[in-house]
Amino acid sequence: MRRIIRKGKMSEIVTPTPAALAKAALLLQQGKLVAMPTETVYGLAADATNDHAVAAIYAAKGRPSFNPLIIHGYDFAQLAAHVQMDNRAEELAAHFWPGPLTLILPRHNNSRISLLASAGLPSLAVRIPQHKVALDLLRMVQTPLAAPSANPSGYLSPTTAQHVAQSLGDKVALILASGKSSIGVESTVLDLTQQQVRILRPGAITAEMLAAIIGQVDTIKEADKITSQITSPGQMSSHYAPNKPLRLNAQSPNSNEVWLTFGPSLEATHLYQLSLSDSGDLTEAAANLFVHLHTAEQMNVAGIAVMPIPETGLGIAINDRLKRAAADKN
Ligand code: TXA
Ligand code: MG
Repeated sequence: MRRIIRKGKMSEIVTPTPAALAKAALLLQQGKLVAMPTETVYGLAADATNDHAVAAIYAAKGRPSFNPLIIHGYDFAQLAAHVQMDNRAEELAAHFWPGPLTLILPRHNNSRISLLASAGLPSLAVRIPQHKVALDLLRMVQTPLAAPSANPSGYLSPTTAQHVAQSLGDKVALILASGKSSIGVESTVLDLTQQQVRILRPGAITAEMLAAIIGQVDTIKEADKITSQITSPGQMSSHYAPNKPLRLNAQSPNSNEVWLTFGPSLEATHLYQLSLSDSGDLTEAAANLFVHLHTAEQMNVAGIAVMPIPETGLGIAINDRLKRAAADKN
C-alpha cells in the first residue's frame, strides 16, 4: 500500500493576512506552487499560463500528464477570455458561480493557458471558487490559476492545511490555511462541450439543481467511465485511495476496523468510531468525509467500514468518492 515518505524542507503554513496573500501572489508570479483553501478542498495552485509552473504541479502530485487541471478565475469575464461560453454556461454561472461547479468548455484558440494544463485537449475546465482567500489571491495575482486538489495523485483529497503539509509539505512554497473546507468534496464537473450535458464528477451542485436551470442533464455511466478515460481521466475508478481497505454499506464493523457511522450508531461500544454525522445530515457528512478518512489512515486498524449513505443530494458525491476509494487497485 502507498506510503507518503516525508523528506526535505517543510513549507510554511500561514494565516492569510494581507501580507501573506501578497507573498503568495508574488510566489505564484515567480512560477512557484502555493496551496490555497477553497470551499470544496484545498488546491495546489500555479500560474496557469506558465508552462514550467504547471509542469511543477504534475511533478509535485506525481500526476499523469494526460489528466487535465481545473483553471480557477475570480470572475466570469476573466474566464470567458479563455473558453467559449454558451447560453447554458452563462445561465449556470449566473446561478452557481462563485461555487462548487466546474464547467468543461471549448478552449479559445488564442488562450494563453498552458496546453499542459488541459493535457492537450481542445477543452478547458473552469470554475470560480466560493472562498474569500482564494478569490482575494486570484484578484491579487490577476492570472488564472491551475489548481488540482493538493494531494499526491491517487491519494485522499485535503480538507485542512495540515493534510496538505503532511503529504506535499516539501513541495509547495507556501500553504495558506483557512480551517476545514466547508463542503469537503470536490466540485461537480459538468461537460458542456456537447449538445448532451453530462456530469463527469458528482459534487455539491447536483443533477437536479443543474436540470432546474438548463433542463436535461445526464450523469456519466460506470460503463462510459472506462471508455472516456482519455477525455476525462479523473474518472479512473481508483482515483481516491486511502492506505487501507475500505468496506462500503457495512451494517456493522469487524473488530479490527474503524467504523465510519452515518446517523445514530448502533454499535456504541465499538472501539474505533468516527461519526460522519450523528443526525444523518449529508452536508455535514460530506464536510467530514476526507477528514475522517485521513484520520482512519493514521489509526492502528486493518480496515475501514462505512455505514450505508443515502444516494440522494450530496450523498451521490459522497458515495462516488467512497466507491473510488474502495476500488481494487491490484
Ligand atoms: O473542487 C475542485 O474542483 C478542486 C478545487 C481545488 O478547486 N479541484 C480539483 O481538481 O478537484 P482535480 O485536478 O483534482 O480534478 C479535476 C477533474 C479531474 O477529474 C479531471 O480529469 C477533470 O476535472 N478535468 C479537467 N479538465 C478537463 C477537461 N478538459 N475535460 C474533461 N475533464 C477534465
Ligand atoms: Mg483530485
